[in-house]
Amino acid sequence: MTEKNVLVLVGSLRSGSTNRQLAEAAAELAPEGLALSLYGGHSELPLYNEDVDVEGALPESVVAYRQAISDADAVLVVTPEHNGTLPANLKNAIDWSSRPFGSSSISAKPVAVIGTSFAQFGGIWAQDEARKAYGIAGANVIESTTVAVPNSMVRFAETHPKEDAEIREQLSAFLAEFAEALDGIDAEQQAA
Ligand SMILES: Cc1cc2nc3c(=O)[nH]c(=O)nc-3n(C[C@H](O)[C@H](O)[C@H](O)COP(=O)(O)O)c2cc1C
Repeated sequence: MTEKNVLVLVGSLRSGSTNRQLAEAAAELAPEGLALSLYGGHSELPLYNEDVDVEGALPESVVAYRQAISDADAVLVVTPEHNGTLPANLKNAIDWSSRPFGSSSISAKPVAVIGTSFAQFGGIWAQDEARKAYGIAGANVIESTTVAVPNSMVRFAETHPKEDAEIREQLSAFLAEFAEALDGIDAEQQAA
């Protein structure tokens, strides 16, 4: 089995991000055949502007980011919720990956979304909005599995998700389903 490279985008830029910690735990728990790499380059992206999105004159951060998405077999987003929706940095990253229209790096790319957030549902609105935006951008959104951990700031105040047995279990189940979904997508493509 060839290893699948999964680019992990964290929707929080702060140094103590609980979502980054969740992403680190997921990377550690990834099953054989799945390699998760945390990507930080989306924090360098300018705000999306069609005047800046000019082939041959793109900012380096955009070139590197689009290349990283193109090189990955799949994308895993790990995000909190901001004011009932996805954080602006993540929406900006989605927009940059959605162009050029018709030949973008995110087109047909498998994408899954998980996360932790402060409120009681663990950021499911942000997750839903991220899935919607990725779907409209042409990604192959995996809807069948997720992890949404509520109470982020309290739950992970003293305990890294890696050390939380329940979280490890949830992440392992998610990763197994994610890997299975990616295999299913491969099989469909081979049959086509
Ligand atoms: C601008 C802003 C808006 C927020 N809005 C929400 C929200 O709508 N729902 C929610 O669950 N948490 C909300 N939060 C709290 C975040 O979910 C919480 O701080 C989370 O732990 C941030 O993720 P991080 O630890 O990865 O940085 C908000 C935080 C900020 C800074």
